[in-house]
Amino acid sequence: MVKNDSTIAGFFPATVMPDPDWWQVLWPSPEQVLIALGAGSQMEAVDLCCGDGLFTVPLALSTRHVVAIDIDPGMLALARSKATAAGATACEFVQGDAYALAPLIREPVDFVLIANTFHGVPDKLRLARAAAAALKTGGRLAIVNWHQRSREETTVLGEPRGPRTDIRMSPADTVAVVTRAGLKHFGVVELPPYHYGAVFQKPAE
Ligand SMILES: C[S@@+](CC[C@H](N)C(=O)[O-])C[C@H]1O[C@@H](n2cnc3c(N)ncnc32)[C@H](O)[C@@H]1O
Repeated sequence: MVKNDSTIAGFFPATVMPDPDWWQVLWPSPEQVLIALGAGSQMEAVDLCCGDGLFTVPLALSTRHVVAIDIDPGMLALARSKATAAGATACEFVQGDAYALAPLIREPVDFVLIANTFHGVPDKLRLARAAAAALKTGGRLAIVNWHQRSREETTVLGEPRGPRTDIRMSPADTVAVVTRAGLKHFGVVELPPYHYGAVFQKPAE
């Protein structure tokens, strides 16, 4: 199994890609998650901190185009081979630091997804600003986070899973930081059993 290289300079703490055995059990239908978050067929999208491509592949199959970005080339290689196996051609894979998003994409996009990463980002406002700058007016940012529940409670295949309890964010915590970056809160969707998706929209200037 290819492991995330968390020694790469700039790697966000506590964001190593989970092992696929329990991760696939927890996320049986990533395409349904994307529908709930408002990803649409005409959208240009970014999957920021894409990992091994759990959401990249269905995003590429359900939108116009996806740029999948990760700091770890090993994860990008996994995501690329999953996309190839699924016949998902409307995607490209770019290595880079999420804080420096703007130069990694050609043009502003309609949809930015940050899944299972925001809890570990040291400067959340900086990342939210980078995501906001990457959006067209009216475009959406969707952040998928573990709920702020005790890690002991969030079991999958009989084991506690997910980030440490103390770094988990409530929907209100997420809304507070992202709205400071100039995005409007659009809504929160439940992603059972343990996650929520907070959705934001870029207002006209
Ligand atoms: C927990 S995984 C989540 C992957 C995927 N979004 C998912 O939900 O399955 C977090 C990913 O963020 C990547 N990452 C960590 N720090 C990063 C950074 N500074 N810039 C871009 N990607 C980063 C890691 O390499 C890892 O693949």
